[in-house]
Amino acid sequence: MYKIFDTVNEASLYTAQRLLNQVQSNPCANLGLATGSTMEPVYHRLVECLQSDPVDISQLTTFNLDEYIGLDAEHAQSYRYYMHQYVFSKLNIPKEKVNLPDGMAADVEGACQAYSEAIRAAGGLDLQLLGIGSNGHIGFNEPYTCFSSRTHVIELSEQTRLDNGRFFVDKREVPTRAITMGIRDILEAKEIVLLATGMKKATVMAELFHSGVDEALPASALKQHPNVTIVLDREAAAFLPGEIVDWVAG
Ligand code: GLP
Repeated sequence: MYKIFDTVNEASLYTAQRLLNQVQSNPCANLGLATGSTMEPVYHRLVECLQSDPVDISQLTTFNLDEYIGLDAEHAQSYRYYMHQYVFSKLNIPKEKVNLPDGMAADVEGACQAYSEAIRAAGGLDLQLLGIGSNGHIGFNEPYTCFSSRTHVIELSEQTRLDNGRFFVDKREVPTRAITMGIRDILEAKEIVLLATGMKKATVMAELFHSGVDEALPASALKQHPNVTIVLDREAAAFLPGEIVDWVAG
């Protein structure tokens, strides 16, 4: 299902509302969370809503999608730092219920296996939030990642390192490897919401629309899932066929 909004603000508010609905209807929900600039306004709205209209979130469990290998929690570009900055420092989710892949683990393979197992032991993800990379990656699952993958170490593509270089002082500082939840872990979520905004995502969203299920385009794995909502602003939807764009949500 596509939900297309006029502005990034409306698309972000809708996405925040989906998270909020999940939390309100299931206070013990397991949420799969994403990072990236696209999610910043979503978390901003979510925090705003939860602060003005508090809901008990002490039973929530969160699992983040991915993390760079070699950046510790103090590094401003680590996803742990990002999540603390935008979400966890502002909401009262107990520390022990917050899960992120450990990019500093001594036994990184063991940490990957334990991460997928922890998701399953918690009962699976109720809602997974996703962004998308310009090459179609979800989490850090780069093109040609096996669709049956569990949490694993990934070699980041040049495209991804180039795209994410904008957050680093020196582009050479972008780590070459990351840990990402696998595509199979993502597809096991009961519900998935993918948000893409801005012209920079227009090409990949058109590719995704036209693509079959193809490991060359990781996000196309979502076509196998029964409950996916793709949330776009007008810019990200710019190259979609007219009949889709007509489904603009008000
Ligand atoms: C990163 C993250 C992804 C995210 C993507 C898009 O590489 N690993 O999970 O979806 O970038 O980021 P942005 O929202 O900044 O465009």
